[in-house]
Amino acid sequence: METMRNLSFLVTTLTIAMSISTTLSQSSVQNFLNCLSHSHVSEIIHTPNNNSFSTILNMKIRNKKFKTPTTPKPQAIITVKDGNHVQTTIKCAKSNNIQIRIRSGGHDYEGFSYVSDVPFVIVDTLHLNSVDVNLQEETAWVGSGATLGKIYYTISKKNNSLAFPSGVCFTLGAGGHFSGGGYGNLMRKFGLSIDNIIDATIVDVNGNILDRKSMGEDLFWAIRGGGGASFGVILSWKLKLVQVTPQVTVFNVKRNVSDGATDVVYKWQLIAPKLHKDLFIRAQPNVVQIEQGGKKTVQVSFIGQFLGSVEKLLPLVSESFPELGLKKSECISMPWLNSTLFWYDLPIGTPLETLLDTPKDPQPTYLKFKSDYVKKPIPKEAIETIWKKMIEGESLYMQWNPYGGRMEEILSSETPFPHRAGNLFLIQYINTWVEDSPEAIDRHVNFSRSFYELMTPYVSNSPREAFLNYRDADIGANRPSNVTKIDIARTYGKKFFKGNFEKLVSVKAKVDPDNFFRYEQSIPTRS
Ligand SMILES: Cc1cc2nc3c(=O)[nH]c(=O)nc-3n(C[C@H](O)[C@H](O)[C@H](O)COP(=O)(O)OP(=O)(O)OC[C@H]3O[C@@H](n4cnc5c(N)ncnc54)[C@H](O)[C@@H]3O)c2cc1C
Ligand SMILES: *[C@@H]1O[C@H](CO)[C@@H](O)[C@H](O)[C@H]1NC(C)=O
Ligand SMILES: *[C@@H]1O[C@H](CO)[C@@H](O)[C@H](O)[C@H]1NC(C)=O
Ligand SMILES: *[C@@H]1O[C@H](CO)[C@@H](O)[C@H](O)[C@H]1NC(C)=O
Ligand SMILES: *[C@@H]1O[C@H](CO)[C@@H](O)[C@H](O)[C@H]1NC(C)=O
Ligand SMILES: *[C@@H]1O[C@H](CO)[C@@H](O)[C@H](O)[C@H]1NC(C)=O
Ligand SMILES: *[C@@H]1O[C@H](CO)[C@@H](O)[C@H](O)[C@H]1NC(C)=O
Repeated sequence: METMRNLSFLVTTLTIAMSISTTLSQSSVQNFLNCLSHSHVSEIIHTPNNNSFSTILNMKIRNKKFKTPTTPKPQAIITVKDGNHVQTTIKCAKSNNIQIRIRSGGHDYEGFSYVSDVPFVIVDTLHLNSVDVNLQEETAWVGSGATLGKIYYTISKKNNSLAFPSGVCFTLGAGGHFSGGGYGNLMRKFGLSIDNIIDATIVDVNGNILDRKSMGEDLFWAIRGGGGASFGVILSWKLKLVQVTPQVTVFNVKRNVSDGATDVVYKWQLIAPKLHKDLFIRAQPNVVQIEQGGKKTVQVSFIGQFLGSVEKLLPLVSESFPELGLKKSECISMPWLNSTLFWYDLPIGTPLETLLDTPKDPQPTYLKFKSDYVKKPIPKEAIETIWKKMIEGESLYMQWNPYGGRMEEILSSETPFPHRAGNLFLIQYINTWVEDSPEAIDRHVNFSRSFYELMTPYVSNSPREAFLNYRDADIGANRPSNVTKIDIARTYGKKFFKGNFEKLVSVKAKVDPDNFFRYEQSIPTRS
């Protein structure tokens, strides 16, 4: 009897507590919106009552897992047009204890830029998309909402000998992509995007708009690879452009296991990270169907880019990597700008203006991505085991991206991104599917995890390193996301940043001591 009464007392108290917390959060949202509209920015506020809300929310969602009726939706999306809008949003969110998520290109594999498990609003940098090239200085200021496509196009149209080293997918946003490192096929020659960024503007937790000089070298260090969203809202970046040959040579040759692809891959591991800096060759193992019988095999695409002519490329390859058997007829020369479309697998002749397309409600698929670093060659027998496991799966494939070159010359403490010398290549495990059932989702995610398990002996350990831009919540994530637990943060922090984690924590403690800018994998204020 006594117990029952206690229990019912407890239940009543809980119910009251819960309804208070709901009312509180609802009124705090209302207060947040009032706070914002006092500052005359209503035309940039999209709440679920506005028709524009779902259009804007959906325009960048790429992982179907986060586009369901039960996916938590933001209380509002603020499509900021300048630094003042960001200042006001931060001030109003802070005073009403509302979490903000910052979205630029929206490509985050785990949806951390547009989904949260606590009440939140999205700051979307959609309109901060200017690209201003200074030809004399060979620099460019770009807004954090600019896509890589717009950046590539604008630079190259001004001078086709200028370029910028960053990702292959040209719909990526400068805000997330650069603050997470940013790499692509110019990496062996010029390093990562962050190695070529010389200034930035950011709005901090106090609403100050800072540039490199006023933010100081520590914060400028942290946002180049540490993930911007732990530190503030990045408005823009200043890029030091790089010089490329007016024509580059590209190829995509495929070799099947039955014609010795395993030997070629084995040799690739030894040679690709040591090749001339001007040459980048990605190996992409994929499962293909042989004949109608349905028998499957592994086919490896060797996708390459050389900063120079085919006449210079061929002797280079036949000397250091004859196993590839690269033929002149397999090589195509084109301006660097055209090559950005080639790498995205678009047919030759695709108009360059495609690079300027703004993403409109992409048809999302389900995604599960993971990453690994390889430091010693994988033995041939192990490669064969890996192929067998791939064939057992339904849709998993890999991209192996060679390091070496410029990546070896940069100290691992120079930026938060620690994966420099001593890495042969980075593996990206890619699993995408369309089947919707909870069973199918489970099955695919399980397969990605068991594949990762199989790879354990062949990849980095203590810590098993991971690339921040290849966001993977499996390696540790805070849920609910409004409390950053130190032991969890240390787990993902060491994998992403190794020895740089401690410095990131000290920068965070200085610039955002109350941990306002937080999400599932943010930097904690103490270690
Ligand atoms: C198809 C595809 C291809 C890819 N190819 C490559 C590749 O070739 N090389 C590579 O390095 N990576 C690649 N990636 C990974 C990509 O770099 C990361 O997903 C990156 O974070 C995307 O940046 P975004 O602005 O588009 O994403 P968002 O989802 O908008 O942001 C990602 C993270 O950055 C934060 N953020 C975004 N904008 C800001 C800002 N203005 N200020 C502060 N924080 C911000 C977000 O809050 C979130 O934590 C690829 C991803 C996809 C989906
Ligand atoms: C959203 O709706 C409110 C209320 O009707 C309006 O004041 C505001 O301007 C709308 N926002 C946009 C972006 O249209
Ligand atoms: C975190 O969010 C949960 C769920 O919304 C809430 O119950 C809890 O009080 C919050 N904690 C903090 C520290 O804000
Ligand atoms: C384009 O850039 C290249 C590389 O810096 C430079 O040599 C060339 O003079 C530039 N051309 C023009 C027209 O500015
Ligand atoms: C590899 O196998 C596929 C499927 O049988 C076939 O279509 C292709 O021609 C083969 N490629 C090579 C290079 O042998
Ligand atoms: C590069 O793109 C331009 C513009 O679309 C086109 O005219 C040219 O033929 C392309 N060159 C190659 C080699 O694809
Ligand atoms: C996925 O793995 C979990 C945990 O090992 C297991 O319980 C579940 O049955 C698996 N689901 C499928 C569809 O294989």
